[in-house]
Amino acid sequence: MGEAVLAGLLRAGWQPTEVRVHERDGQRMAVVAAGHGVSAAGLDEVSDVDVVVLAVKPGQLPAVLGRLSPLLVSRPGPVVVSIAAGVPTRTVEAALPDGVPVVRVMPNTPALVGAGVSVLSPGRNAGEDHLAAAERVMSAVGSTHRVPEELQDAVTAVSGSGPAYVFYLVDAMAEAGALLGLDRGTARELAVGTVLGAARLLAETGRHPVELREQVSSPAGTTMAALRVLDQRAVRAALLDAITAARDRSTELGEPGGVG
Ligand SMILES: NC(=O)c1ccc[n+]([C@@H]2O[C@H](COP(=O)([O-])OP(=O)(O)OC[C@H]3O[C@@H](n4cnc5c(N)ncnc54)[C@H](OP(=O)(O)O)[C@@H]3O)[C@@H](O)[C@H]2O)c1
Repeated sequence: MGEAVLAGLLRAGWQPTEVRVHERDGQRMAVVAAGHGVSAAGLDEVSDVDVVVLAVKPGQLPAVLGRLSPLLVSRPGPVVVSIAAGVPTRTVEAALPDGVPVVRVMPNTPALVGAGVSVLSPGRNAGEDHLAAAERVMSAVGSTHRVPEELQDAVTAVSGSGPAYVFYLVDAMAEAGALLGLDRGTARELAVGTVLGAARLLAETGRHPVELREQVSSPAGTTMAALRVLDQRAVRAALLDAITAARDRSTELGEPGGVG
């Protein structure tokens, strides 16, 4: 995910001199830095930068924060942006000197192709300028949104886990196509192209999904026959329950001892 942000920044026009990369494995750090034409940085350089993006696994975060903390004592320092899923800003703040601005971000995997959705929440020391700085970085890999931190579990359930629901749908559509006689490759291409096109139609027209759905559903037509079965099988209710279950699981993982 960190490399996706790095690549996105360069794609978005940031100069290689504006971005630095740090990894714990020096060899890998050199490979990543050279691969993108940016400099590898020692952790001690952290106090010179405007934004630090922490893109390690939640379980690796305490060790990283422990090393960063003594380097972030002077003010004003960088804004610390954590993309670690489920880790509250208060946990990051508690591991850093008082007053360090922290922004929590939930990105999703389409960030890897520059089409991510990143949702930001400020910690208690983060003001508008800090949020804006975090947005400038995350907008390199897709759209950005803001929510109060207590809604981050809902965000995780909708956009964080969301790509998996779409992959599930595409797989089922492709399987149905194969069942109806299409070859598997063609069936998958039709499903992927349809989801991509439908998503673009929604995004580019700004029209409500119900309006667009009605447009392709002539009375007593083929689409209505399919939608009727989806309703009979309570697919909408299942989605509401599924996304609520993801929200609940995210809350559980965020409780002390829950994230590993
Ligand atoms: N992937 C997603 O879809 C997604 C979505 C939303 C949020 N996130 C969050 O994004 C974060 C990164 O996920 P990921 O899938 O990109 O993980 P990842 O592939 O494991 O990347 C983490 C990187 O950080 C390095 N690292 C670990 N400890 C370090 C340390 N002490 N100092 C410097 N570098 C260190 C790791 O190096 P090693 O290889 O040596 O361990 C690895 O290169 C996670 O917190 C995750 O919750 C991910």
